[in-house]
Amino acid sequence: MTEHVLIEKAGGVLTLTLNRPEKKNAITAPMYRAIGEAIDGAADDPQVRCVLLLGAGDIFCAGNDLGDFAKVNAGEGEATARADENPMLGALSRARIPLVAAVQGRAVGVGVTMLLHCDLVFIAEDALLTTPFVNLALVPEAASSMLLPQRIGHVRAFSMLVLGEPVDGRTAAAWGLANAAVPVKDLLARATAAAEQIAQRPRAAVGATKALMIDQAAIAAQMNEEAVYFAQQLASAEAKEAFAAFAERRAPDFTRVA
Ligand code: COA
Repeated sequence: MTEHVLIEKAGGVLTLTLNRPEKKNAITAPMYRAIGEAIDGAADDPQVRCVLLLGAGDIFCAGNDLGDFAKVNAGEGEATARADENPMLGALSRARIPLVAAVQGRAVGVGVTMLLHCDLVFIAEDALLTTPFVNLALVPEAASSMLLPQRIGHVRAFSMLVLGEPVDGRTAAAWGLANAAVPVKDLLARATAAAEQIAQRPRAAVGATKALMIDQAAIAAQMNEEAVYFAQQLASAEAKEAFAAFAERRAPDFTRVA
């Protein structure tokens, strides 16, 4: 349990709200656990027919808590920051329950890669998606190194994953990363309506259709492969410099690293 994830169940929809707006909904180990348990638990709860993922405040999610990453880099902290031990990524990737997301402001890192496991995504027109893994000396996770190029093509995915180039809401919708880009004032209503619509559909048929559409074995294999590189990089001197730079509000200088 953490106050940083709000969990509400109504009308067949389980709403999970990242609720750490003062830190732009950066995700910590307890938050990963809370979301992972809620999504896994939804599988056995006949009252839940759809999961809606929201972020409180002006930004959907600023990605993994960089302080947590720095702790793992220093040999402390919880392994949940590692891609292979992350209960949220595991639950998202094996979920048969439909997942709907509403993205406002910014989504960074895992805030973007989680969207690749969602079945419907609504995004504010002026929102920005960024995946600055390489800028942080890390590698992509959540099978995004496979799912993102599959979804948008290699060259677009490379510019996002390696250069960290932002993609705005309208472009995200045009590229197939979101169903629709909408004015931010309409975002919650649009995503809620879609989740409620799914909740009206026959639960077993929906779950089977989702399972048929997703190659879970390929996703699991890619996540395992990513996790090897992710763990190496998370412990690296390059990453130490990147996390120190964030904490000191300066640009990283990777030429300092041998
Ligand atoms: N981990 C930990 N803390 C974070 C965070 C993160 N990923 N993202 C933001 N925060 C914290 C900031 O340190 C700041 O804390 P403070 O008020 O105690 O100083 C607070 O959230 C507000 O962030 P700020 O940067 O002032 O907000 P902003 O609106 O100017 O910018 C972002 C928002 C998301 C663009 C910016 O915070 C950012 O780039 N964050 C890092 C994103 C990132 O690299 N994530 C990892 C991806 S793998």
